[in-house]
Amino acid sequence: MTTVLRSVAQLRAWRRELPVGTRVGLVPTMGALHEGHMSLVKLAQLRCDVTVVSIFVNPLQFGPNEDLTKYPRPIEKDLEQLQASGVDALFLPPVEAVYRQDASTFVVEECVSTPLCGAFRPGHFRGVATVVLKLFNLVQPDIAFFGQKDAQQCAVIERMVRDLDVPVEIVRGPIVREADGLALSSRNVYLTPQERAVAPKIFESLTAARTAYERGERDARALVAVGREVLAAEPLLRVQYWEVRDPASLEAIERVGKGGALLAVAAHLGTTRLIDNLVLS
Ligand code: PAJ
Repeated sequence: MTTVLRSVAQLRAWRRELPVGTRVGLVPTMGALHEGHMSLVKLAQLRCDVTVVSIFVNPLQFGPNEDLTKYPRPIEKDLEQLQASGVDALFLPPVEAVYRQDASTFVVEECVSTPLCGAFRPGHFRGVATVVLKLFNLVQPDIAFFGQKDAQQCAVIERMVRDLDVPVEIVRGPIVREADGLALSSRNVYLTPQERAVAPKIFESLTAARTAYERGERDARALVAVGREVLAAEPLLRVQYWEVRDPASLEAIERVGKGGALLAVAAHLGTTRLIDNLVLS
């Protein structure tokens, strides 16, 4: 049975009852669960005694013109999936339980959060880091699981945990994809059939650059050109960024060296914004 915890008091009471030494795993999510989320749940269950999933559509990480109000919230279906996979607890707080009206303390990471998505979504990673630190303080997990799908989010959280001495181990899970390569995302439900048909091109642009890399191309600009060319042929797709960066520091690089590279892309398909990435190592 999955215990549903709807308030901070319920969560804390549940947490207190766990025997000392219980390894607690946390999978933070915004719901509309898919196989990407569930792969993190499976990782957590392998590594931990008890697994907690949180579902909280965090208003603080959405920009004023983003999809906060229309973000999918199929909570019954989500709960069924968590029950079926034997998750121990679901933390499902209302907004008022997480943010006080007059909250005035936030977590701002100032380095890895600035390029890529950070440049186009001001305040986004401040919202992510703040809610994730709050979830860590509430759930007090030993290990927390995040998807490589959001590579920059992983980098921000790892940096926060390092800089603030947060006693939580961060584990990255690999990207789960549809058969045609499209990375699973709760936002894929927004795509029209026509847009859905074009969406796999995003991953195709990454694999095209990887092929060039495997053939010996090391110049970052050349790799970007290969990737962008795949997408330029698609009138429905508008690229926001297509970049080659150091996978750890997210700094821009001119050549792919020993440290490998992160290929990262964000694109709009109609009104839907999709991101994807691939690590060259
Ligand atoms: P959400 O988009 O619901 O994603 C929850 C977790 O699932 C994240 O760690 C994300 O990287 C991972 N995930 C999403 N799609 C995936 C895929 N195709 N393969 C593998 N993992 C995938 O990310 C968030 O929520 C929020 O920002 C959150 C961390 C919960 C803070 O509000």
